[in-house]
Amino acid sequence: MKNIILILLLFIAYQSPAQFEPNYDESKIPDFILPDNLISNDNETITNVDQWEKIRRPEILKLFETEVYGRIPDQEIEVEFRIVDVKKDALDGMAVRKQIKIVFSGNDRELTADLLIYLPAGRTDAVPVFVGYNFYGNHTINPDPEIWLASSWIRNNSTVDISDNKANELSRGFRTSRWPVQYILSRGYGIANLYYGDIDPDYDDNFKNGIHPLFYEKGQSKPAQDEWGSISAWAYGLIQAMNYFETDDRIDQTKVAVIGHSRLGKTSLWAGALDERFALVISNESGCGGAALSRRRIGETVGRINTVFPHWFNDNFNKYNENEDALPVDQHMLIALMAPRPVYIASAKGDPWADPKGEFLSGAYSSPVYDLYGLQGLEEENMPLLNSPINEGHIGYHIRSGEHDLTYYDWSQFLNFADRFLK
Ligand code: GCU
Repeated sequence: MKNIILILLLFIAYQSPAQFEPNYDESKIPDFILPDNLISNDNETITNVDQWEKIRRPEILKLFETEVYGRIPDQEIEVEFRIVDVKKDALDGMAVRKQIKIVFSGNDRELTADLLIYLPAGRTDAVPVFVGYNFYGNHTINPDPEIWLASSWIRNNSTVDISDNKANELSRGFRTSRWPVQYILSRGYGIANLYYGDIDPDYDDNFKNGIHPLFYEKGQSKPAQDEWGSISAWAYGLIQAMNYFETDDRIDQTKVAVIGHSRLGKTSLWAGALDERFALVISNESGCGGAALSRRRIGETVGRINTVFPHWFNDNFNKYNENEDALPVDQHMLIALMAPRPVYIASAKGDPWADPKGEFLSGAYSSPVYDLYGLQGLEEENMPLLNSPINEGHIGYHIRSGEHDLTYYDWSQFLNFADRFLK
């Protein structure tokens, strides 16, 4: 009998994460009060840009660092940019292609991330660039046969026959629909891509692989409670790409837009918050821990994300599992960290898990910070109609029909928005 009870208990424990029942009913959202972007930790009301930049912004940034994503260690490690490949007439003459090995060294370990860049051919001036991560390797974003195959750990995927966590030829170009490279080039922008697994493979190994160990202090074997999880590590990689752009005179480093989809949209927002050199920030369906307000508890919740992806955030973030009201921040404060820079938030109707309304509201509730700068944020109180982008102020937004994905439609809106600021 005892054994049967034990087996039953083990079965229940094992089943419990899968049994998480997301709420999708607006009427079941508990009442909540959001922390105020414009009231400081000392209860001081922030009324101007100076107070925002000197007092409140640093406070909010620090709270996200220590309580959510985790602080990137201060110590510098060696980072080298090796420009290995330059092709003047890539993509049938449409692009200049560059492939750069970013080599990180620390604690007698080395890590390499491949940076792929396409710039519009036939230009000699510095161009604006979009930079973002892909999920399966740079070689998946375009059929170009000369893009290096990713060499680090890849998630298995039966559609492209990956079963040994290694990139293969079959997967070349299989994510072309997410990265319409030729279209982006034709609109006058460059596009830069990295594979996020080069910086930190996306599974929980207690931070033994990836970039973290290069930073460990003597005797340290995993990040401290407040230190970086994987999202912060990926943001660090984007910051390093930005450092490269500053060395490349064909890239206008004052006009770099950082973009990401889903977990990588959480990452682009965090990178944009950390590094104000990013001139424009784009979140595509970033959901929980991205643009969506955590306190709404619609779709994915803090407790759920920390259970299924324990390596994404820092350990402190676990304090808020099923305890969102205790969070000293919410995600409208992350959006506010972009101010006065333009930010675009995109949602999809078929993606309730990411809480489109919560993503919209984060934009709306961050607008008072844009007001301090005399800039229009997202002033609308109600969500726009489907496929009717808001592209007027410094915060853009759309909700499109269709599923959780990064599509040509999304890109068209991002480019239209970027044209107002980066052209
Ligand atoms: C999961 C996860 C989300 C994440 C998404 C993605 O659905 O729960 O938080 O955004 O994966 O990255 O595709």
